[in-house]
Amino acid sequence: MGRRWQRERKREHFYRMAKRVGYRSRAAYKLQQLNRRYGLLRRGDVVVDLGAAPGGWLQVAREEVGGEGFVLGVDLQPITKLPYNNVATLVGDITKPETWGHIKTKLPRAANVVISDASPSVSGVWEIDHLRSIELARAALEIACQVLAHGGKFLIKVFQGEMLDEFLTEVRQKFAFVKVSKPIASRKGSAEVYVIGKGFKPTSVVLRKTEKLLKTCKISSTGASVRSPMSEKCIRDAK
Ligand SMILES: C[S@@+](CC[C@H](N)C(=O)[O-])C[C@H]1O[C@@H](n2cnc3c(N)ncnc32)[C@H](O)[C@@H]1O
Repeated sequence: MGRRWQRERKREHFYRMAKRVGYRSRAAYKLQQLNRRYGLLRRGDVVVDLGAAPGGWLQVAREEVGGEGFVLGVDLQPITKLPYNNVATLVGDITKPETWGHIKTKLPRAANVVISDASPSVSGVWEIDHLRSIELARAALEIACQVLAHGGKFLIKVFQGEMLDEFLTEVRQKFAFVKVSKPIASRKGSAEVYVIGKGFKPTSVVLRKTEKLLKTCKISSTGASVRSPMSEKCIRDAK
């Protein structure tokens, strides 16, 4: 049995299962597997799904958050409506700041989870596809930073390549726990991997903490008052 044959068989297996169950994509199984492994989606969560068409991940996310949660799907392509009041969709380019604004206005409150399966249209040239995928991944990270609540979670697809490490460093600055994973529903030979981030650390919290420490040290955030060796230590600790 050739490797290629086995890969095709696996693809076919998830494709058939998705058809049977009524999922709009076999990608739905990737989210299910990653969710089972990393505990990303919970009842009542607000979830933003980027690159969501045709809607397989939206279906899985809705199953997990239930009737009390809310799921927003965003894609360049229109997404056929799902039969739930708490699933909304938006046509937009996630790399464009105006889309970020639209996403925020659609959410009932800060999001608990941002997931992104967005893929560039593949050129077949590994480096180009990798760079485009990193551009989408950075846009997804930016959106996550704008909409996630403190402690929120992040799951994003990215094509492997030389910029991946740099991207992971950026994710690590924002999340307490970061992992790279490949679900079994993803083809072994494909360049895609999924980056998981948990424990979102909003910058504003860091700033608030800094301000609080500066207050304790009796120094204004503009640094206007006289600095003593003690206050200098406080500033160092606060940074
Ligand atoms: C692999 S599909 C997503 C499948 C989806 N997770 C599902 O389960 O049905 C990738 C999607 O990314 C979308 N996409 C690519 N670039 C985008 C962009 N700049 N903004 C929004 N969506 C984008 C594509 O239109 C495509 O629908």
